[in-house]
Amino acid sequence: MKLYNPTPATSAVSFAGLIERIEILRSTLRWSSRLERPEIEKLLKQATTLRDEVMGLSHKERFVAAASATGEEVEAPMVEPVEMSARERRQALMERSFIFEGTFGDNPKLLESLEIAEKAAPTDLPVLIDGESGTGKELMAKVIHANGARTDKPFISVNCGAIPDSLLESELFGHKKGAFTGASNDRRGKFESAHTGTIFLDEIGELPLTGQVKLLRVLEAHEIQRVGSDEVISVDTRIVAATNKDLRRMSQEGTFREDLFYRLSVIHVTLPALRERRDEIPLLVAYFGDEAAGQLKRRPLKLTPRLRDFLLHYEYPGNIRELRNLMYRLSCLAGDTADFAHLPQDIRPKPAGLQAVAAVAGGKATVTDLSTATSLSEAKRAASDEAERAFLERGLQEVGGTVAELARRFDMNRSHVQMLLKKHGIHSKDFRNNRQAEGK
Ligand SMILES: Nc1ncnc2c1ncn2[C@@H]1O[C@H](COP(=O)(O)OP(=O)(O)O)[C@@H](O)[C@H]1O
Ligand SMILES: [Mg+2]
Repeated sequence: MKLYNPTPATSAVSFAGLIERIEILRSTLRWSSRLERPEIEKLLKQATTLRDEVMGLSHKERFVAAASATGEEVEAPMVEPVEMSARERRQALMERSFIFEGTFGDNPKLLESLEIAEKAAPTDLPVLIDGESGTGKELMAKVIHANGARTDKPFISVNCGAIPDSLLESELFGHKKGAFTGASNDRRGKFESAHTGTIFLDEIGELPLTGQVKLLRVLEAHEIQRVGSDEVISVDTRIVAATNKDLRRMSQEGTFREDLFYRLSVIHVTLPALRERRDEIPLLVAYFGDEAAGQLKRRPLKLTPRLRDFLLHYEYPGNIRELRNLMYRLSCLAGDTADFAHLPQDIRPKPAGLQAVAAVAGGKATVTDLSTATSLSEAKRAASDEAERAFLERGLQEVGGTVAELARRFDMNRSHVQMLLKKHGIHSKDFRNNRQAEGK
């Protein structure tokens, strides 16, 4: 057993090193023969609290502090990072020859994940990536692989949620001929295939408890055993796992091994949902619009103002994957210009003319449906609102998105125009882009 060795005074602060020392302390305590049980329990509790506190440190504190504490400066690890703009941070990554693998965006949370990936990539430490479906977990795993020393070696992806429980272990670790019905030959598993490279364990929260025990063994001893075999095989595989579940909670509830969670999450990256980075939707729409045009060998798609507005305000439960798929769909189905009709039926707003925007208290807008108006006055107001919206959109198109020009042309008060635009959720700058694009 390794013995707990308090921090050597000269070492730099390393998050992984700290976690490892806490783990060693915990196991030393657990198996101590000289202490009484209540004392062990008390110390274990303290060690667990300490570990949780370290795990709870923000990514920035962990990594910026670790990076700035070079050797002798251990006493001042919490140096404030120099404030850099998103653009500068991305630029700095590029100057360090970071490989983005197509990861796009300047959102601070995303950049932070990329910066962590950059530091983690050259190590063999396990990485746990969490985030909703479609937030780019697999892409991030590839980024980590591409920026490390294993880049020329295999990257093997396994979706633990897509393989039946009964076959999962054999899929991961291989099996011996005759190990179970249907095992007609010896077969190697994904870990062996990923030897010297990286294995990406997607939906790790779906791994059954028996598989979790075996995975822990790989992390601890770098060894596997094929199902039905006694032979121990050494594997040198870097593990990157992903989940859209809360593994910490699962480990508290007993459905995911706590020790495995801590082993896997030495480096923990959380990817933001698209709705937390709404500011980037216009860029992503343009980016995937261009990408789709390139792939489909067509001219870049134009969007009607109301479709653009829809795309900018939609919730995207499927995150970037959904946005990307939408842009491909629109590029495939629409001619020159896409509109609501090209959206999938289930997310398509009601047809124009049946729907209008009605102002409600607080300056917010809600949708009143002409077809469901319960009184003549409501129907009239809905129709009038729709006319108002169409008028504003056409006007903005004509003046290239300049509100002052629109007010002048139609002899309206500028602040009144602005109020109406706000009421309808119309953004004048969307019309500016349109005109520029058309002028090209
Ligand atoms: N930041 C990003 N920039 C560009 N494309 C992205 C980004 N994040 C995700 N994608 C794209 O979205 C899709 C879904 O990403 P993926 O990594 O499979 O998500 P997840 O594994 O979280 O479900 C892929 O086509 C991926 O290339
Ligand atoms: Mg995925």
